[in-house]
Amino acid sequence: MDWGMSNRLSRIFSPKDGRAVMLAVDHGYFLGAISKLEEPRKTITPLIPYVDSLMLTRGVLRNCVDPQNNIPVVLRVSGGNSILKEDLSDEEVTVSIEDALRLNVSAVALSVYLGTEHEHQTLIALARLVNEAENYGMPVLAVTAVGKELEKRDAKFLSTASRIAAEMGARIVKTYYCEDFEKVVNSCPVPIVIAGGPKMKNEYDVLDTTYSAISRGAKGVDMGRNIWQSRWPIAMISAVRSIVHEGVNTDAAFALFNKLKDKS
Ligand code: 5RP
Repeated sequence: MDWGMSNRLSRIFSPKDGRAVMLAVDHGYFLGAISKLEEPRKTITPLIPYVDSLMLTRGVLRNCVDPQNNIPVVLRVSGGNSILKEDLSDEEVTVSIEDALRLNVSAVALSVYLGTEHEHQTLIALARLVNEAENYGMPVLAVTAVGKELEKRDAKFLSTASRIAAEMGARIVKTYYCEDFEKVVNSCPVPIVIAGGPKMKNEYDVLDTTYSAISRGAKGVDMGRNIWQSRWPIAMISAVRSIVHEGVNTDAAFALFNKLKDKS
């Protein structure tokens, strides 16, 4: 592996344990100003010390994150859709590789929509992005998006989508936790990180999902709403981090969450 690619990946996955705590704050690219992300700077700034990298768009990066921060960035480079339309799968690449390099990011991310009308379009966009990004030692993270159809989150669908994304050249795959998650991990030759999905009813469930994913082979999380839509985002990210990097179980992480929550 080229030095640049290797260096960028090591800014995302800690060289100590090969794992990653990524904070996803890119939701506005198709959802607009969703709850708790109305003012991105206010949401993001307090969480930066607790995460290994940020996943976000160039607009939020340029306007809401101080460039003095040495936080690695995974730049969302796909879009062109919005929640105002029924079909969320109609995405293309929206950011040039030159702009990603100008922003000094550590990886670029795009969504692929398997099983939708735009499957071909999004897979070809992934392939083209990989062709370009590899020239510069830039890792591509593929998000196995499910749009509004959350019921698609089963091992058959997610392992197919993750494997195809890896076959197209993604260096990292972001998917969802599901039953039989080992099947997704074992059939995907590149590291998998999990999204959290819509906010869960309670924090214990988020931590249990994280623990289950990590103990079944995920290399980290790329979570958003279940962190910053919590009443206690710092306690949540700290508890998630303890699972990812310290190997603690759900109960220990939940105890940490409660301790930190009471102090906040
Ligand atoms: C949207 C994304 C989001 O970054 C992803 O869904 C992670 O955030 P959350 O944990 O809130 O689901 O890629 O397509």
